[in-house]
Amino acid sequence: MAKRENEHTPLPVPNGWFAVEFSRDLHEGDVKPIFYCGEELVLFRTRSGKARILDAFCPHLGAHLGHGGRVMGESVRCPFHAWQLDGETGRCTNVPYSDQIPNGAGVRAWDVQEKNGLIWIWHHATGAPPEWDFPALPEFDDEEWTEPRNFEAIFEAHVQDTHENNNDNVHFHFVHTASEIPDQEVVYTPNSTHYRITSYSTRETALGTFRIATERDSWGLGLNAIYNSGIPGAGLLLYAATTPIDEHRVHSRWQLTATRNLVDIAGEEFMKAVTTGVEEDLDIWKYKVHRARPMLTKEDRFVADFRRWARQFYCEPTADEETP
Ligand code: FES
Ligand SMILES: [Fe+2]
Repeated sequence: MAKRENEHTPLPVPNGWFAVEFSRDLHEGDVKPIFYCGEELVLFRTRSGKARILDAFCPHLGAHLGHGGRVMGESVRCPFHAWQLDGETGRCTNVPYSDQIPNGAGVRAWDVQEKNGLIWIWHHATGAPPEWDFPALPEFDDEEWTEPRNFEAIFEAHVQDTHENNNDNVHFHFVHTASEIPDQEVVYTPNSTHYRITSYSTRETALGTFRIATERDSWGLGLNAIYNSGIPGAGLLLYAATTPIDEHRVHSRWQLTATRNLVDIAGEEFMKAVTTGVEEDLDIWKYKVHRARPMLTKEDRFVADFRRWARQFYCEPTADEETP
């Protein structure tokens, strides 16, 4: 869709950790073509169980390693002439029909980690190595919490705009079902890629009426952990990872886990609320422009604060420097 240049200022793909797959969907020996952060990549799981990501195109004659490539030990084997590329370094370690490996033959190996049920890639515009990390959450390993329920979707939006949504408390009233504009408190951890939004609401449940606290933790632009607490001994955690496919599209993956005493009562409803919530946002995201100089009221201050924090994820100053 054509967006008038003077009204739309595109943002580049930001730096940070972004999820590329659910861990449980990549088995030993699996090789998959993936496209994220504007890059053609190959994702595979080695025989020792490590998830690896390499640039997709073979250094020999350019075949896509993700389409027909095979895992050989810790390497991926090209479908075209069977050169082997090591998952950790990207270097060519074997040319089966020659005793010669050309000098420097290899592809870029990306920084990868696996945590909280997801496989993550580190993206940096200059190719710099990881500059920060995010925590492993105990709920994913706790017997008291259910096996996560997964849900994913691809939509047209920039990852910063979908993230900004969390901070935009006004829209919760006008787009979603909040009966009034929710009050919220935002605490930015100093010199950090982390911040937390806390808001409160009253909920009627089968167990009684409770004041529910919602805490949204973010680490970078691609990751939110949303906790609902307030019912004694019970909790819900929605873990949301959003990854830029490129500057215009994102792939979101959600995992919902709940304490066993709560899941039958509230889990289903909560999941439904999440999926409906996203559906309510979709058209806004799809058709909106990104305004670097939005007109804001004092009630919109959370958006301005968020944009100031978000600047750290770009190498070059973005047009958002102009946000008041
Ligand atoms: S293109 Fe990969 S081995 Fe020839
Ligand atoms: Fe929303």
